[in-house]
Amino acid sequence: MSFNYLTKITDINKIFLDKFLKEGSTVIDATMGNGYDTKYLAEKVGETGFVYAFDIQDVAIKNTTKLLEKYNLKNNTKLINDSHENILEYHTGNVDCIMFNLGYLPSGDHNLITKPDSTINALKDSLKILNKNGIISITIYSGHKGGQEEKEAVLEFVQSLPQTDYSVFMSKFINQINNPPELILIEKR
Ligand SMILES: C[S@@+](CC[C@H](N)C(=O)[O-])C[C@H]1O[C@@H](n2cnc3c(N)ncnc32)[C@H](O)[C@@H]1O
Repeated sequence: MSFNYLTKITDINKIFLDKFLKEGSTVIDATMGNGYDTKYLAEKVGETGFVYAFDIQDVAIKNTTKLLEKYNLKNNTKLINDSHENILEYHTGNVDCIMFNLGYLPSGDHNLITKPDSTINALKDSLKILNKNGIISITIYSGHKGGQEEKEAVLEFVQSLPQTDYSVFMSKFINQINNPPELILIEKR
């Protein structure tokens, strides 16, 4: 028998985001990868919303373009081949949600990973353009080389956010072996 509800951390994230995301919102996928989260966001914000998606790898742009074309979702998305560290250069305006899915592209080069410094810089800039009551979601994988350092840096940063301005929530599967991924959600007051 398999599990129906408490399956993957990315599914748990969507239980929350499904309630939060609205048609017409502008949102950002900070780590596009193969485009599954970009597709999800594009469907949730609909034709009247908009998704900016970032990745440093050409293959991410290629795979995500293919996926969005297949589902006819190209019109309300902009795929940006650049680091999320440069988010502010793209003048997205204020946004309701920014998703980070850290680590490496599962089907790609496992050496091309998100890194502590650029992730923290991107988070700092994300907080600047997040609307009031907007959400940042961060899925953290710590099992790969460099993953533990990134997790520690992210935790230190988000724990330092003043509770008067930000509500910061964390969850994970606590009976799984091998560094189960963790989910952090941030709401801006
Ligand atoms: C776990 S994957 C993302 C999976 C993706 N959200 C999906 O639905 O398929 C992490 C991605 O982050 C990308 N990445 C690494 N460093 C980055 C950076 N500085 N800016 C933007 N993307 C980065 C990697 O190239 C990789 O594609």
